[in-house]
Amino acid sequence: MTYYITTAISYPNGSPHIGHAYEAILADAYARYHRLRGEKVIFQTGTDEHGLKIMRTAEANGLTPKEFVDEMAGEFKSLADRLDISYDRFIRTTEAEHYAACQEIWRRMEANGDIYLGTYEGWYCAQEECWLTDKELQDPAWAEKKVEWTEEKTYFFRLAKYRDWLLAYIESYPDFIQPESARNEIINLLQGGLENLSISRSTFTWGVPVPNSDHVMYVWVDALTNYLTGAGFPNDYNNVWPADLHVIGKDITRFHTIFWPAFLQSAGIPLPKRVLAHGFLMHNGRKMSKSEGNVVDPLEEIDRYGSDGLRYYLLRQMPATRDGDYRDEGIVETLNSELANTIGNLAQRTLSMIHKNCGGAIPNENGSKTEADIDLMGKSSETVGRYHEAMLANEADKGLACLVELAMTLNKYLADEQPWATRKENPARANAVLFNVATNLRRLAIALQPFTPRLAEKLLDQLGQTERGFDQLLVDLKPGTVLPPPEVLFPRIEYEAA
Ligand code: MSP
Repeated sequence: MTYYITTAISYPNGSPHIGHAYEAILADAYARYHRLRGEKVIFQTGTDEHGLKIMRTAEANGLTPKEFVDEMAGEFKSLADRLDISYDRFIRTTEAEHYAACQEIWRRMEANGDIYLGTYEGWYCAQEECWLTDKELQDPAWAEKKVEWTEEKTYFFRLAKYRDWLLAYIESYPDFIQPESARNEIINLLQGGLENLSISRSTFTWGVPVPNSDHVMYVWVDALTNYLTGAGFPNDYNNVWPADLHVIGKDITRFHTIFWPAFLQSAGIPLPKRVLAHGFLMHNGRKMSKSEGNVVDPLEEIDRYGSDGLRYYLLRQMPATRDGDYRDEGIVETLNSELANTIGNLAQRTLSMIHKNCGGAIPNENGSKTEADIDLMGKSSETVGRYHEAMLANEADKGLACLVELAMTLNKYLADEQPWATRKENPARANAVLFNVATNLRRLAIALQPFTPRLAEKLLDQLGQTERGFDQLLVDLKPGTVLPPPEVLFPRIEYEAA
């Protein structure tokens, strides 16, 4: 069985920002987590390259849309690489294979009697690439966005027909939409009724051609289908499909949990198992926007804090289900107090003592366990158990919090047991304490891999460990394992006010 996980595909009409980085990092943590469980994971991310907005931005830059997206897609891919995103495929919706998948799903929806030709008259918002009902237009959230009156021949999809089925589906599969708030929002929307959806454009050509027509597909039909293309559709796709998890931002929940299931149901294709809608990031308490000039550039942040630093802060700071705030001072504080101190110092102190006092090799556990040792192992196993629960529930922030807790437990154990003080009188006890801490450091390092892959790797190198999967998580270290000289795991950072 494959664990198929995706991010939303980004509009490459501007440079990637911290929101794009966050989503990729979040999905990457789950992809890595499932790989460590021994599952075959397919992780897809990419760019959404058609539509009116892209076409206009390309024109404004004096480029053809294709020239423009070729250049911009590179920026998104290189961000993913610099963030250590372990994607298996970076899809671009201008790929020929993707066109074939879109045309096939279209044909299937048509064969099911769900597509008809009509005329669309109404408002369109190019920024969000969506049509708006009069009711939606009244919503103050739309007041700042540019909308334009549109009248054109388009194909429609019989979305309204799917409303009752979809409501029943969402009721019977409570895990389909996460979190609860997103699920409730969608149930409310559905209860308010659904209109048929215009799914083609005839006034411009930058899109996937509709079969046997001079229209192009509405960009969301094309965009959503990327998930099927990645699974191999229309060829052999049942080994990968249905997707296990679509990780998206909360602003595009309705596209993924109303349009997408309806298209799939119409085409006779199973639905994805879960859609996770994460919150939005603000910057120092304010909404990020180009006009405010406060958009965080993830590349600059990687230069400052390293990809692990940025990954750690975002995953630790952002609750999976609510909005988060990217604070310039907050990131420095968090990294110093947790990565450099709680985790980094713990590792360095332990490894230095082993290096100095135990001949640079894992010491013997030696002798019977004290109450404190039994307590430590119990707490550690229990914390790791909660880590798994959180990760499987897609609550990466809680999963990471468990690991910080584990590091704190280890720090306390070290402080209580004082191997530096007991060494003279009772070296066997001092060794046993170091053994216990090192064994738990290994747990910590294995479990940290989804969050901070480089740092975890470095720690596992320092512990002389090559087996790094979850099957090793609760296995003790082997005494006598020779260790390399200890190194600083994560250096402290100075805060520089912008
Ligand atoms: N192209 C569509 C998605 C199509 S998926 C079939 C799109 N692109 S986007 O570039 O605007 O956004 C890409 C992802 O980044 C979305 O999931 C969006 O919610 C997320 N984010 C955009 N801004 C964000 C923040 N400020 N914070 C967190 N995530 C944000 O929508």
